[in-house]
Amino acid sequence: MCGIVGYIGDQPAADIILDALKRLEYRGYDSSGIATLEGKKIHLTRAVGKLAQLDTALKNTPQAGNIGIGHTRWATHGGVTEANAHPHLAADEVAIVHNGIIENYAELKAELLAKGHEFSSQTDSEVLAHLFLDIVRQGYKGAQAMQQVLARIKGAFALAVLLRDSPDTLFVARNASPLAIGIEDGLVCVASDAMAMAHLTRNVIYLKDGDYAALSLDELQIFDRDNQLANREIIRTSASPALIDKGGYRHFMEKEIHEQPDAIAHTIAAMTDAKGVLKTGLSDADLGDIRHLVILAAGTSHYAGQVGRYWLEGLAGIPVSVETASEYRYRAPAHLAGGAVVAISQSGESLDTLMALRHAKEMGLKTIAIVNVPESSIAREADIILPTRAGPEIGVASTKAFTAQLTVLFALAVDFGRAKARLSADEAAGLQQKLLSVPSAVGAAIDCFEAIRPIAQSLKKTPSCLFLGRGRLYPLALEAALKLKELSYIHAEGFAAGEMKHGPIALIEEDLPVICLLDGDDLSAKTISNLKEAEARGATIILIATASSAKLVDFDSFRVVIEDCDPLLAPLILAIPAQILAYQTAVEKGTDVDQPRNLAKSVTVE
Ligand code: AGP
Repeated sequence: MCGIVGYIGDQPAADIILDALKRLEYRGYDSSGIATLEGKKIHLTRAVGKLAQLDTALKNTPQAGNIGIGHTRWATHGGVTEANAHPHLAADEVAIVHNGIIENYAELKAELLAKGHEFSSQTDSEVLAHLFLDIVRQGYKGAQAMQQVLARIKGAFALAVLLRDSPDTLFVARNASPLAIGIEDGLVCVASDAMAMAHLTRNVIYLKDGDYAALSLDELQIFDRDNQLANREIIRTSASPALIDKGGYRHFMEKEIHEQPDAIAHTIAAMTDAKGVLKTGLSDADLGDIRHLVILAAGTSHYAGQVGRYWLEGLAGIPVSVETASEYRYRAPAHLAGGAVVAISQSGESLDTLMALRHAKEMGLKTIAIVNVPESSIAREADIILPTRAGPEIGVASTKAFTAQLTVLFALAVDFGRAKARLSADEAAGLQQKLLSVPSAVGAAIDCFEAIRPIAQSLKKTPSCLFLGRGRLYPLALEAALKLKELSYIHAEGFAAGEMKHGPIALIEEDLPVICLLDGDDLSAKTISNLKEAEARGATIILIATASSAKLVDFDSFRVVIEDCDPLLAPLILAIPAQILAYQTAVEKGTDVDQPRNLAKSVTVE
């Protein structure tokens, strides 16, 4: 996703902005640029590719000025070219960087073309620059110009703007796309993510939707959507530069796989009350009043929700539907009274999930957020926050956040089970004990890190493969397929094992890899017979299985075997070899493990 940075201070802006952009690299991008304002002169440098290209260009043509804006672009409108890279200029009077999508850019562009404006890119963002120019030329200045622009545009956006005639002021605005303001002696900065400026300041203001601001070293003016001056709270962010470090691992993803025992343990600890009882933080009143749950999420978080449904229905008897956020927000869902939504999001900024949460809120449902970033938009808009304590997850492919989400969902099921009198206090305590055994079981599962390499080597040339699972392991098969496809670019598809004979078995051909998750539960025998049908037709079988379930398979197969565990918690533990298989395959294929092509860590566009 695009990353925005802005700076005004007592130091030259370009290098500070470049360094901040580097701390946003994990968001995924394909080009970048920086504009600075020196007196009445706007300097601009842009480059396609990684930030190293921009760095080289800046070294070749240094640009002065203590105020500037920078951008890493994840292409939405227009190809990956220097002309489409941000910042966009209009007549050397306006420079702008933008994250999001301006939905009515085409009509605005037509209007501006008719007025004689000329464009050099295919982007919606350049239209914004010319709209600013047009409004400034009508005599509007500074924040009033921003107000006029915001009155004309529709869509999700975070903006930072330089105006030639306001050389000491940074103008910013946000609607649905995140933007944080950082404040320290001698500087004011802005960034899409507080992490990008944590080395400059931890004092952060998060703008609300519709806010815009004029920021100078002497004054911060923040206006709300009604154009009234607004007071926004300054918070001390938990983001810190030390957290963005590989710690000796080759990739952030490798580090984050290894951090999972701690991430799960910290998440459990944060949900354990003074008496040592596992409590998610929902009040007894809420637990009693809520009669059904709607889980809203995307991608990996959606698969976590699908696993959570098995626990919530099985342990608490609470009806659960799991919705794809991007679909839910445009449906007219029918809900019984007493419903609550659970929005699951690592970043807390996925626009699909944020908008689905708002849709549910408009329908009167209570909103619960399971997020890894407590200051995120989804967290700020939900009624109740259930934080995962995985720490910042930098690798685009989610790992520790996923198992931390599962941890919260399991605890939520126990909480509801106790509140709905489906679980006695002893039964709940027993389940808590099982959960407490997970960090060490996950640590043991990580030991397969090297043993998986030969299987990854066998996979790297395959054009496609299937993942199978049943029951709680069916959503894990979907997640394992997503991991492999997003990291290694191999087409991978997950199926409910029982579904194979209803069509997908037609895909089976000689040497097609079929990867099957087994945990020794009472469905394993059925899964193995589904697997046998694939093996009989020439598939190459790969097991990701607990020791006892692997013994039930009497035909040839590659095997990743982990210690036996309670099948109830198997998704938390079998997730580890599935993640490692995807990671090792990507390493074998030489793909960009932490920033796979076309992907972003936080998808803040539709
Ligand atoms: C996960 O590996 C993917 N990067 C992606 O599917 C991700 O889970 C999805 O975009 C949702 O992100 P969120 O959890 O931050 O909302």
